[in-house]
Amino acid sequence: MTKYDNNFTDQLREHLSIVDVVSRRVPLVKKGQNYWGCCPFHNEKTPSFAVNEDKGFFHCFGCGKSGDIISFTMESEHVDFKTAISELADMAGLKLPEYKPKSQQQIDAEESYISITMAAAKLYAEKLFTPDGAHALEYIRGRGFSDEMIKKYGIGYAPKNNLIANMFANTKQDKLIATGLCRRGEFGMYDFFRDKLMFPIFNARGQIVAFSGRSLDGSEPKYINTTDTEMFHKRQTLFGFNFARENIHRANRAIIVEGQIDAIQMQCNGFGETVAPLGTALTEDHIAIICKANRNIIFCFDGDNAGQKAAARACGIVLPFLRDNSDVRFAFVTGGKDPDEILRKSGRAEMEKIINNAVPLVDFLWNIANKNFLIKTPSGRTQAEKFLKQNTDKIQDNLLKYEYERDYKNRRYKEWRNYNNQTDLSNIDVPEIDNVIKNTLVFIVNKYPELAERYGDFISRFKLNFDMIQKDINLDFNSAEKYLVSLKLQKYIESLEKQKRDLMVNSLSGKNDVHEEIRRIDEELIRMHEKFDLLV
Ligand code: UTP
Ligand code: MN
Repeated sequence: MTKYDNNFTDQLREHLSIVDVVSRRVPLVKKGQNYWGCCPFHNEKTPSFAVNEDKGFFHCFGCGKSGDIISFTMESEHVDFKTAISELADMAGLKLPEYKPKSQQQIDAEESYISITMAAAKLYAEKLFTPDGAHALEYIRGRGFSDEMIKKYGIGYAPKNNLIANMFANTKQDKLIATGLCRRGEFGMYDFFRDKLMFPIFNARGQIVAFSGRSLDGSEPKYINTTDTEMFHKRQTLFGFNFARENIHRANRAIIVEGQIDAIQMQCNGFGETVAPLGTALTEDHIAIICKANRNIIFCFDGDNAGQKAAARACGIVLPFLRDNSDVRFAFVTGGKDPDEILRKSGRAEMEKIINNAVPLVDFLWNIANKNFLIKTPSGRTQAEKFLKQNTDKIQDNLLKYEYERDYKNRRYKEWRNYNNQTDLSNIDVPEIDNVIKNTLVFIVNKYPELAERYGDFISRFKLNFDMIQKDINLDFNSAEKYLVSLKLQKYIESLEKQKRDLMVNSLSGKNDVHEEIRRIDEELIRMHEKFDLLV
């Protein structure tokens, strides 16, 4: 029997949530652990079709049918395997690899790859407890690693000599090279990792596919990682994910930190749901993998400038993955360099505080916009507004996108209007207005931010309530502006008339001569009425 290339189907399963795939055909509602809907494979009125996002399976309690994203697509659309794969690849935005059965040769190669990396890890682990590895053991213990932790994470020591090249002298060189552990040099095979503290890198299935080695003598670079191989793609690998998966499910969230030691210390100090990218900035693949497990993410970045930058980048990457049930937050380490340092210096409670103080994405993005542009100036506000729009445009859930846009419109209006220094006619008291006008103003502010800014001072006098339910009003930009100008004029006229009345009352009681003043107001009133007639 021929086997098919698991790699790509695994990738699909990692990139696509079964809930998203099934939802395209069957409306689902979340109840407890599962999503429920009416089974598309038999006739029913009461939902007995359960979908488990975490496991990536569906099961119908009515007809007994079950499967994954691939079998669901095949059966619900009556298409063959190949078509289903290509459709799912489209949906995931992945390029379809050439479709070919996996050869026996390839299977053997993979098996030998894993057997070499597993055996190498064992050798490294043993070396850590020999005199050769004494300085490495001392170092890792000094960083708070117990023997139990060393064992769990498979930490080891790669000695100065060519341990792997020597131990695998009888293995075919190409197979050794394929693992990234050895290279071919002028004088024969040599080890890539030498005199390094070794961290095995596991794939989601718990197999060791690569290593990360930390320098022990202060030499740079601090970490070297296996370069990409057939079995290891740095951009698609999250350190600690194999250990974290269950905990992500239980905690109903994932925490992403910057470094691998941070991830280990977090996992061992009550934050089992923590992972880290490996020597690379966060990628879309990383987020896709996390989102498949859980859509609640807390990014926890170092408090330095690099951390701020990385967070802004992560924000841009995560936006397309947002759904109405995602809660994405950003935490920054303060009072220390990174989570590892916080945990070791101040303990779990302090770390918990940092995590609990994480800022929701909607606020974080707003803060970036306000920090990066000169909000005091009109061009700064315009740039900030464009920046926000570019980002909200990345949200694929349209309703959610709309909510974000609305939120930012309100904030622009509420928080930025103070920078608007128009004075002219608005230096007057504005009387009450009715609900229809209020509603129209709220509509205009939400729909036309440029107008909200231009007439901000005027509009802000009305103390509008932006949470009020809006009726959809048919008003294009020009009409909206006309509406504002005439309202403003009308209110001005009303206030002039009131001034005039007050003056006349005063003059009746025989006080100062007010004729001059009243004449001035009359002239102004005439001018304003002319303007008003031109408008309407
Ligand atoms: P950091 O420079 O923050 O290191 O890099 P760290 O995690 O605090 O390392 P320790 O605590 O000094 O041991 C964050 C992550 O970036 C990757 C590693 O995965 C590291 O954990 N990195 C860093 C590299 O791949 N190469 C490097 O040279 C440095
Ligand atoms: Mn560190």
